[in-house]
Amino acid sequence: MALHVESKHEKMVEDVKVLKIGAPKASEDVKKVDEHNDVQLSMDNFKFQRTIARGMFGEVNEYTSIKSGHSFAIKELIRSHALNQIFMNDREIKNHRIIRHKHIVQFYGTFQDEFKIYIVLERLSQTLRQVMETNGSLDEVSSGVVVKAVCKGLQYLHRMSVIHRDLKPENILMSNERIKIGDFGLATTETGETWCGTPGHIAPELFRKETHGTPADMFSLGIMAHEMIQSRLPFTEEYWRKNVIRANTLKYVPPATFSQPFSTVMISLLNKTPSKRMTADEVLRSDWLFDLEVNYERDQIERIRREHL
Ligand SMILES: Nc1ncnc2c1ncn2[C@@H]1O[C@H](COP(=O)(O)OP(=O)(O)OP(=O)(O)O)[C@@H](O)[C@H]1O
Ligand SMILES: [Mg+2]
Repeated sequence: MALHVESKHEKMVEDVKVLKIGAPKASEDVKKVDEHNDVQLSMDNFKFQRTIARGMFGEVNEYTSIKSGHSFAIKELIRSHALNQIFMNDREIKNHRIIRHKHIVQFYGTFQDEFKIYIVLERLSQTLRQVMETNGSLDEVSSGVVVKAVCKGLQYLHRMSVIHRDLKPENILMSNERIKIGDFGLATTETGETWCGTPGHIAPELFRKETHGTPADMFSLGIMAHEMIQSRLPFTEEYWRKNVIRANTLKYVPPATFSQPFSTVMISLLNKTPSKRMTADEVLRSDWLFDLEVNYERDQIERIRREHL
């Protein structure tokens, strides 16, 4: 099977017919959030500003609230799109609406008309992909700040038994200090065997259609951390064909430039065996992120001394 490692926006979805739409386990939470979300929304509430992005399943536009002028991003999914009809909408809405966390893009409500389903979201200014394209590769400290934020979001999702399944720089949104996980189009509350995600970023068990759970997200986090620092994916298309698909012998060797604590985390995240990967809790407690905090604090203190004293 051909892998398109370079086509970063391409999302591959197979076996959609066998895919069950994941009813959230936390049904009580859904009720609670719905009670608070009972404002009847429609396009009359919003004024169109601009198109932010066009995707496979529709587009994301910026709107302002007629009432307050506050800016929102609205994801507009075309109802007639075959894949949307089969599973994307329900999944995205059911999973995203129960979630509230500092490091996850906030869902504010949903409405529909004859042609589209609209999901009203907190608007952020850019994706991690755009930050990487503008700034080039990030250093270990900056990528650690991103990994830490994403890990806190994942820690929350995984405690709720939600697997995101599409972690990649396009789906991490940023605005000044805010770093958030977005795009719940492939999120699920079930461990599954369905093949979905983005080639180059997905865990080997997902690709091999084996049972997968929350460790699949930890693998994708490792890929993203490597990509942030090296500006390329850790495994080539050829490597996937040979070592992941045919032989199942994936082995990650971190570049010599990575620090020891960072390499330890990366080797664990990119382990081919899901149970051997660190959990989000463990990454947050790792020496890498702890040292990073200490170094970051030290740099801040030095900067303030230098600039102000
Ligand atoms: N809340 C938001 N604020 C600002 N921009 C957003 C927001 N949500 C999505 N976007 C932009 O829209 C793009 C597509 O959104 P999203 O990832 O949710 O859809 P998608 O189904 O993955 O689309 P695609 O098929 O292109 O991957 C994002 O990569 C980002 O550029
Ligand atoms: Mg996306």
